[in-house]
Amino acid sequence: MRENKQSKLPAMPLLAATGLRKSFGGITAVNNAELSVEPGSITGLIGPNGAGKTTLFNLLSNFIEPDSGRVIFDGKPVQNLQSHQIAQQGMVRTFQVARVLSKMSVLENMLLAAQKQTGENFWRIWFNSSKVIQEERSLSRKAMDILDSVGLANKADDYAGALSGGQRKLLEIARALMTEPKLVLLDEPAAGVNPTLINQICQYIITWRRQGISFLIIEHNMDVIMSLCDRVWVLAEGRNLAHGTPVEIQNNPKVLEAYLGK
Ligand SMILES: Nc1ncnc2c1ncn2[C@@H]1O[C@H](COP(=O)(O)OP(=O)(O)OP(=O)(O)O)[C@@H](O)[C@H]1O
Ligand SMILES: [Mg+2]
Repeated sequence: MRENKQSKLPAMPLLAATGLRKSFGGITAVNNAELSVEPGSITGLIGPNGAGKTTLFNLLSNFIEPDSGRVIFDGKPVQNLQSHQIAQQGMVRTFQVARVLSKMSVLENMLLAAQKQTGENFWRIWFNSSKVIQEERSLSRKAMDILDSVGLANKADDYAGALSGGQRKLLEIARALMTEPKLVLLDEPAAGVNPTLINQICQYIITWRRQGISFLIIEHNMDVIMSLCDRVWVLAEGRNLAHGTPVEIQNNPKVLEAYLGK
């Protein structure tokens, strides 16, 4: 009897990149790389310093243009889309060095991330100011709820610049959640963060995943990768070196060699 072909179809990845290439002068930072993120997964991206991980993130989020290759997010190509349009479609990213606005309050940083605010349009404010006020209140409530869920509610009125390095990273992740994303790209969320806060961040990520958010995480901290990720992609010198479960990756001699150097 023939098998039902439909049941054998693999689920479409939430994010799929193929043949990505990016050179800076003489350096090919990303060289024909591919990567995919399954819906509902926590996927890791690892590799030695300078392997091209951040450049790959920049390509995935269309922050920079690839020399060649293709990125499909949620069934649509990201090329030609601006960052805010990609965020509206449900993909947001954080940066290796957290980009919070130090001279603004923690709450203001959160509100800046909110999309589609009626208040952005002068004429709508003019004709519809009660709606704008209502919308601002509801955004503030949402921001405070998210801050509360990551233990930053009591810092809402503090300058973001007064936060510790780890708290700034947390604020950047919290801010990413304001747009109700389907996929969050985190570039080294644990770097420079104290071990207690790293554990907390991991717990938050697990909770958010349960709520349906997928993650792609660059991280050098292998405990974080091992404890969080369903699958891991390894990049070395801009190329795909391996991908598999964390245990498969941990036991892959090619990966060990790439980290220890030849
Ligand atoms: N804007 C740029 N101009 C020139 N070279 C760049 C640029 N961005 C990245 N590179 C180079 O591309 C290579 C890959 O850098 P990238 O930052 O993507 O690596 P990474 O894997 O994120 O490293 P790390 O683990 O240290 O963060 C490096 O050799 C880097 O110097
Ligand atoms: Mg990097």
